[in-house]
Amino acid sequence: GVSANPLPKEHVETQVKEESSSSSKSEKAESTLSIVVVGASGELARKKIFPSLFALFYEDRLPKNFTIFGYARSTMTDEELRNMICRGLTCRIDKRKNCNEKMDQFLQRCFYHSGQYSSEDHFSKLDKKLKEKEGGRLSNRLFYLSIPPSIFVDAVRCARRRASSEQGWTRVIVEKPFGRDSKSSVELTRGLKEYLCEDQIFRIDHYLGEELIENLLVLRFSNLVFEPLWSRNHIRNVQVIFSEDIGIEGRGKYFDNYGIIRDIMQNHLLQILALFAMETPVSLDAEDIRNEKVKVLRSMRPLQLEDVVVGQYKGCTEGITSYPAYTDDPNVTKNSLTPTFAAATFFINNARWDGVPFLMIAGKGLHSKRAEVRVQFRHVPGNLYKQKFGTDLDKATNELVLRSQPDEAVYLKINNKVPGLGLRLDCSDLNLLYKSRYPREVPDAYERLLLDAVEGERRLFIRSDELDAAWALFTPLLKELEEKKVMPELYPYGSRGPEGVHYLAAKHNVRWG
Ligand code: NDP
Ligand code: BG6
Repeated sequence: GVSANPLPKEHVETQVKEESSSSSKSEKAESTLSIVVVGASGELARKKIFPSLFALFYEDRLPKNFTIFGYARSTMTDEELRNMICRGLTCRIDKRKNCNEKMDQFLQRCFYHSGQYSSEDHFSKLDKKLKEKEGGRLSNRLFYLSIPPSIFVDAVRCARRRASSEQGWTRVIVEKPFGRDSKSSVELTRGLKEYLCEDQIFRIDHYLGEELIENLLVLRFSNLVFEPLWSRNHIRNVQVIFSEDIGIEGRGKYFDNYGIIRDIMQNHLLQILALFAMETPVSLDAEDIRNEKVKVLRSMRPLQLEDVVVGQYKGCTEGITSYPAYTDDPNVTKNSLTPTFAAATFFINNARWDGVPFLMIAGKGLHSKRAEVRVQFRHVPGNLYKQKFGTDLDKATNELVLRSQPDEAVYLKINNKVPGLGLRLDCSDLNLLYKSRYPREVPDAYERLLLDAVEGERRLFIRSDELDAAWALFTPLLKELEEKKVMPELYPYGSRGPEGVHYLAAKHNVRWG
């Protein structure tokens, strides 16, 4: 399909109309879906995208007629692509059940086309191959851009002009990073929108596809007991924490240009915070939820330097094992100031959250792998058991924890009496541990998000105004950190991070560590 540049308005409208008309039942049965993984030779494609597509196929979630094409510059035969996919496939469902048979069926639907990302001619050739597989049926096309951001717009231009669907819908999933700051993000959006309308762009943030993050809204809005407490009246502080026990693992070139604030905070953690703090949406509709997220992001105060602690891991030796420093990576400059750790305090200037600190913490090369939200509640006023807690009264406040990784769980710390004749108090957990309650494996975040993109569900994807609001919160700080060449505090690989985070937590009366 060839289209003019820039995309004329009427074309955008036809496209939108096509989206709704193509969903009629008979057309759906006859239609076919082509998924093109652009950057198919890369790590993300191998580790996440192909295995997730297989899981969806295994669960019969993909349409009856579908074809998957890998596209990248590397030369590969269909067979070589299949071998590559096969090595990365795990059968999370049931290893004893027809898994091999399903894998073979899946692999037979996978093909490869080698081409440059900026060559319209190469995309025309892809289009020809896609048409052969689509066999004249109404076809919908989903492109997944799993490539570095510098070539997003080129690939979108070629895909849109030469390989988009003629009668069905064309959607494009875009991987992060969506720019480095407000300005570059706006430029990227403008570049993408030359060829696509907003409804066709699916900006992915895989944390939004995590089971626990999905459950955050269910917890908040379908239980009577949480929502009345969800405000400054009862919540003392909130912590949104991401910690990894590995370093940058060969991604030095990318990471040194971005750092932990852009890699984790501006997207994954801020999205969690927005879902946590937003007002009740009008409905579960994508636009209603995203409207509320934008509102809360716009009510937040942009970060100030004094609200932030930055760190970088240094090498260390434990017994006979030595761990590398961040700057030991061959693709990182020796005097790099890029933070691998950051802690930041946000405040939301609205009636619900006025004065409540939201402490966001993200780090690599730390002692553990975890992603969680911790909600610390206020003291019980006039607590009858004050004497029993003594100086530890602070430890006796309730805490709700939503743990996304590892071992999904929701638990509430409560105070209870130790059974026996005396009166001794203890702190226990009311614990919903997923693996005990739901023994079946939890789907990978990419599965849910790919399925949503296939089904046109935009709720878990980032809208462009959300992105603008998110960058507005971080851009001044990032600029200041870079202009002032702020030295990150060094912390040993495998430790709990820089000391500075304790001072930041203490400043805001946050119980930490
Ligand atoms: P890669 O760096 O492995 O890139 C994917 C493919 O793009 C490569 O196999 C290569 O294919 C092509 N490519 C790489 N560099 C260039 C270049 N400079 N110019 C043209 N083509 C290039 O990335 P990943 O697979 O790790 O990630 C893909 C995207 O997803 C990136 O945008 C990344 O930021 C994002 N992402 C990655 C995550 C991860 O864990 N890996 C997590 C979240 C997001 P070929 O040479 O065959 O054309
Ligand atoms: C990615 C970051 O977005 O998320 C990586 O670029 C990070 O640096 C990864 O390791 C973490 O994802 P997960 O799902 O392993 O927590």
